[in-house]
Amino acid sequence: MKNNSKSFLLIYIFTIFLSGLSLSFYLISRFKNVSVLGVVLFGILIFAADNFSVPLPKTGFVSVSSGIYLSALILFGPSTAIIVTFISSFFIRDFLRKVPYYKHLFNIGQYLISIGFSSWIFEIMYERKYDSIFIPKNIGVIFLTAVTFFIINTFLTASVISISQKIKIFNIWAYNFAWLFPFHIFLVVMAIAISFLYKTYGPFTLLFTLMPLVIAQYTYMLRNNERKALLNSIMHIVKIVEAKDIYTAGHSVRVADYSEKIARKLRLNEYDIELLKNIANLHDIGKIQVDLSVLNKTEKLTNEDWLEIKKHPVVGYEIVKEITFLKDYANAVLYHHERHDGSGYPFGISDEKIPLFAKIISIADSYDAMTTDRPYRKALNNYQAIKELENNIGKQFDENICLKMIEILKEEQIN
Ligand SMILES: [Fe+2]
Repeated sequence: MKNNSKSFLLIYIFTIFLSGLSLSFYLISRFKNVSVLGVVLFGILIFAADNFSVPLPKTGFVSVSSGIYLSALILFGPSTAIIVTFISSFFIRDFLRKVPYYKHLFNIGQYLISIGFSSWIFEIMYERKYDSIFIPKNIGVIFLTAVTFFIINTFLTASVISISQKIKIFNIWAYNFAWLFPFHIFLVVMAIAISFLYKTYGPFTLLFTLMPLVIAQYTYMLRNNERKALLNSIMHIVKIVEAKDIYTAGHSVRVADYSEKIARKLRLNEYDIELLKNIANLHDIGKIQVDLSVLNKTEKLTNEDWLEIKKHPVVGYEIVKEITFLKDYANAVLYHHERHDGSGYPFGISDEKIPLFAKIISIADSYDAMTTDRPYRKALNNYQAIKELENNIGKQFDENICLKMIEILKEEQIN
């Protein structure tokens, strides 16, 4: 990052941090009531929830902490909720990873601003005199508070990514956060139930309401870590496969990158994009069984050579279908050399019979092959590759997906 933009980013982060602190001090001095029991109980839970949170696709984390904060706000008011949030913004995980200090400051600042403004709205509008959550106005206020929190929290996080990575703020928000909105609405319903049970039957109800959620989140995080470890090992195998073929070093990663870009243009959800990236990384893993002399042959391939190479989608499919969380998408590996007009291999299926993931990978794969030097021809430049893609619309490639790929390549030319 250039020095100018780094200084701007630091000034922005300090402004957020100081604004968050000032707002918190003001609100705590205005709404003095602090529940020590609330701080201890909800502080422990929110701290656990945030430290067991699950990484989001681009950056940031998803956790049940906003549901916990909202419960603390309904039960004890803004001051307790702000202190609880202040505790939650210290991520042990980040300290252990030696995350730069300014990221901590931003984290604390943005949480305090989101909590501060939303709890302020809550305290002004919420009718405590009825001592009941279940009056229409109070339910409405809780939803308004949660929506305010969600919007401020996600836009502040998107803003700092936008400044540091120079991507439009709305694009970051749409890719990373918009899809979390239904989850937050679920958390609001959960917060209402938790607060009602706490008020009616006492603090022990947290054992049956929040504890299972935090444990579920912890289990999800462990499963996520296991997947990551498994994928890391598989990527080592991919590198070994690529090392066999001197012409395709880094090919799988590039195919995965373009597959992701196409998927974003097609507006697939983040869950599917993540799966597609994993599958794209593995699309040529079947080459592990292809004879080395065939892969690295510099002269024209014989019919026998082609038969040998054409085995790799089937071998790859057999490998990928053994990976539990990818097995339902393994057919994208099997069909990644099929063509729109039915002239591909291994089965010669066409158009609607080819799964979406296979169509995407096929285009990304072909583009990377065109733009890389091969023993029998030189790499095409970007302009020639776009022409080649255009010429093959409706023959080798699906029209809609191919046009998205061309759009991406033209955008890259401009930037
Ligand atoms: Fe392939």
